[in-house]
Amino acid sequence: MTATIISGKQVSEEIRGNIAIEVKELAAKGVVPGLAVVLVGEDPASQVYVRNKEKACHDLGYYSEVHRLPAETKQADLLALVDKLNCQDSIDGILVQLPLPGHIEEKAVINAIAVDKDVDGFHPVNVGNLVIGDDSLLPCTPAGVIELIKRAGISLSGKHAVVIGRSNIVGKPVSLLLQRENATVTMCHSRTANMAEIARQADVLVVAIGRANFIDASYVKPGAVVIDVGMNRLENGKLAGDVDFESVKEVSGPITPVPGGVGPMTITMLMQNTLIAAKRHHGLV
Ligand code: GUN
Repeated sequence: MTATIISGKQVSEEIRGNIAIEVKELAAKGVVPGLAVVLVGEDPASQVYVRNKEKACHDLGYYSEVHRLPAETKQADLLALVDKLNCQDSIDGILVQLPLPGHIEEKAVINAIAVDKDVDGFHPVNVGNLVIGDDSLLPCTPAGVIELIKRAGISLSGKHAVVIGRSNIVGKPVSLLLQRENATVTMCHSRTANMAEIARQADVLVVAIGRANFIDASYVKPGAVVIDVGMNRLENGKLAGDVDFESVKEVSGPITPVPGGVGPMTITMLMQNTLIAAKRHHGLV
């Protein structure tokens, strides 16, 4: 039997439709959400991501600024720009595209972003608030994963969720968000013994390991929900997930494709975070 496909593209359009309505309501109050994106250097993938973010802002009627800086930009100059954006009233959210060139310390830059404008949810204060369950700006991809599961009508309460991957950007925060939804969470990573055996116990399997087509049907319990966060560029130029979609869909329950699964949700959640930051900035929540 072939599984139901969870379309991130469709869910994304639904959420953007709701955001557009809120943007109109804010406009009537004289508020326009503003996002600043900073790109240092010429990494081709980053250039595409930044263009997509700029387009999403334009489509939703946000104010947007993109600062493209040369690869040899000094850390002090980047920090000065972040500081200026922290103080700029028209800007509600700041995103510094990662990775940064090697001579710049990412941690110093992330820590310099005002907590209330940290729409990536990477600042240690936002991460800490996520850990203790307080209100915070949530990292976009993990928030997108949860939203996708919920909007597909899947309940997480009491389910066994297995997360494969322990990165700060996806694995760790997504496991915290799954716990917040009352799932029982197991984390696996590159040193996990018997990974397939553990993965086969999952009702919900979230995969974020960055290895193309790594998860085959032997990792999946029949009927399990499979969420693929992988985005791997193959030698032939095609995009592949971490899950071998063709074999896994024969045994799994609802499954996300790549492309068109988690990917579109990331920018949508960035737009959502910027809207939340704008409402807070103007005392509207
Ligand atoms: N590079 C790849 N993913 C991301 C992300 O979510 N945020 C930022 N700032 N850079 C990235």
